[in-house]
Parts: sequence; structure tokens; C-alpha cells
Amino acid sequence: MEPSLSAAELDVRRFTHNDLPRIRQALIDVHADAYAEAMEDEFNQRFPWFVEHWGGHPDFACVIAFDGDEAVAFAYGAPSTPQREWWREHLDPAPTRSRTFSYSELAVRTKWRKTGTAELVTRALLEDRDEDLVVLLVDTGHPRVQALYEAWGFRKVGARQPFPDSPVYAVMLADLPLG
Ligand SMILES: CC(C)(COP(=O)(O)OP(=O)(O)OC[C@H]1O[C@@H](n2cnc3c(N)ncnc32)[C@H](O)[C@@H]1OP(=O)(O)O)[C@@H](O)C(=O)NCCC(=O)NCCS
Repeated sequence: MEPSLSAAELDVRRFTHNDLPRIRQALIDVHADAYAEAMEDEFNQRFPWFVEHWGGHPDFACVIAFDGDEAVAFAYGAPSTPQREWWREHLDPAPTRSRTFSYSELAVRTKWRKTGTAELVTRALLEDRDEDLVVLLVDTGHPRVQALYEAWGFRKVGARQPFPDSPVYAVMLADLPLG
């Protein structure tokens, strides 16, 4: 029997825009493992484009959890553009404290699911942000993932489909720091 895996044994490291060349492949590999059952979907195949897009942001922030040399999970995002935050069209009036971090992507290798690793990288990414809010998009067809975010303090404020071939996403918002 395999020994049980524990998130506590992982080495959590932080990366920025300048690190993109050396973390790009790790992000692509973890994503391919995490989405293995859904990689026939052309939208998921475009992930490398999204890595360039988000990693190209000068304030890109990324956390990767390593088991030895192997990247097993990541979380990344970047500050939202003021007035163009994903929540903006759904909240009237807008929150008074509205500086927002866009939490773009989270993925955990299948072997490391249900070990607390998703929460570990999420909290590590968000704990030293100085924005007021964090917003993310989650596929409305994945209610169990939405429930996970709700357990961490996010609430659904609307729905959007950013690209014609993307899923319809629930827009989820939380105050920072996370509770
Ligand atoms: C989302 C994720 C990080 C959560 O990891 P975790 O905390 O270890 O939790 P689990 O993997 O058990 O996922 C929680 C629940 O969501 C479900 N789920 C996870 N990813 C899913 C997906 N892509 N599609 C549909 N359901 C999914 C799981 O089956 C599980 O359901 P259950 O509680 O009924 O067993 C991990 O499942 C993952 O990397 N998924 C693929 C990538 C993804 O969907 N990222 C989120 C983008 S918003």
C-alpha cells in the first residue's frame, strides 16, 4: 500500500513574472495531469496561452508546491485592472474598498487530491496580498469545486462567459485576508 500523502510535507515556493521561463513547463505539466480527463476540450488545450497571458503581467504572483523536485500543485493570479474586475458588472453599488486580486488558476495533480494541497497553495498565494478582495471564476458545471471555494469564504456574485469557447463561470468573491 502506498504511504498516505500529506500537504504538510510539501515545499511551498513563491514565484513572480521574472520566474516565468523556469516555471512555465511545471505549470503546463501539473495542469495536464489535473485536467487529464478533460484535455480533449480545446479550451483546456489553450492553457499554455493563458500561462503566457497571466505570467506576462508584471505583478504576476504564483505559488507552486513541490514534492522533492516534482511540482504537484500551483495557484496563480495577478491584480485586477481597476473598473474591469470580474465582479464589477454584478455588484451595484460597488464595494467601497475595491482593490482586487484575480485568482486565475488552481490545479493539483490527481495523486495529491484530498490532501489539503489545494487549500495550502490557495492560502499561501493569498496570505500576503494587500488587495481588499479576491475574485475567481469557476465552471458552473463543477458545483463540487464551487462548494470548495465556498468553504474557504468565497460567495457567488454572478456568472460570465469570457470567451465563446469557454465554460460559463460562476464569479466568486471573497474579502482579503481570507477567514
Ligand atoms: C479543484 C482542485 C484543485 C481541488 O482539489 P482538492 O481540494 O484536493 O479537492 P478534490 O480534488 O477532492 O475536488 C473537490 C470536489 O470537486 C470535484 N472536482 C474537482 N475538479 C473537478 C473538475 N475539473 N470537474 C468536475 N469536478 C471536479 C471533485 O470530484 C470533488 O468532488 P467530491 O467532493 O464530490 O469528491 C482539484 O480537484 C483540481 O486540480 N481539479 C482540476 C482543476 C480544476 O478544476 N481547477 C479549479 C479551477 S476553478
